[in-house]
Amino acid sequence: MGSCDASPGQAAAPGAGGSAPVLALEVNGRAVSVSVSREATLLHVLRNDLGLNGPKYGCGLGQCGACTVHVDGVAARACVIPAHGVAGRCITTLEGLGSRHGFHPVQQAFERAQAAQCGYCLNGMVMQAAALLAREARPSPARIRAELSGNLCRCGTHIEILRAVEDAAARLASA
Ligand code: FES
Repeated sequence: MGSCDASPGQAAAPGAGGSAPVLALEVNGRAVSVSVSREATLLHVLRNDLGLNGPKYGCGLGQCGACTVHVDGVAARACVIPAHGVAGRCITTLEGLGSRHGFHPVQQAFERAQAAQCGYCLNGMVMQAAALLAREARPSPARIRAELSGNLCRCGTHIEILRAVEDAAARLASA
């Protein structure tokens, strides 16, 4: 998913009449083009222009992780990324993490572990964990804990979340 070879876009000059500049991205494997202001964040574009509500608005300051997406496969906080700053890049949201045929192994593990309470943090937890497991096959429990330490959860499922990531790592490694 996300080859990023579909005519990556630079922000174009404002259109006639001073309309917002056009931004071209690849989102969840699909080339998209939207007209957005230079001040718009990536989170705003994903949620408000593209209708992708997997990434959540939490703090808006890059501190809670609820808005986490992947930019070229790396976990990033969409609430503090200027949308035009990632023109032409590959963006993956929670909606694009799995496939048509099934959830991503991390999503499956979270479901098996019942690792949700209110669910608001889950987008960030899943996206952060998936990015970790894409670059490290078998992270230690301490490594998983450190990786997710910047993703805040105000409920009480921390143990289940950590178990889910360990479970996903084990299954991915043995696949
Ligand atoms: Fe982006 Fe909190 S909403 S880090």
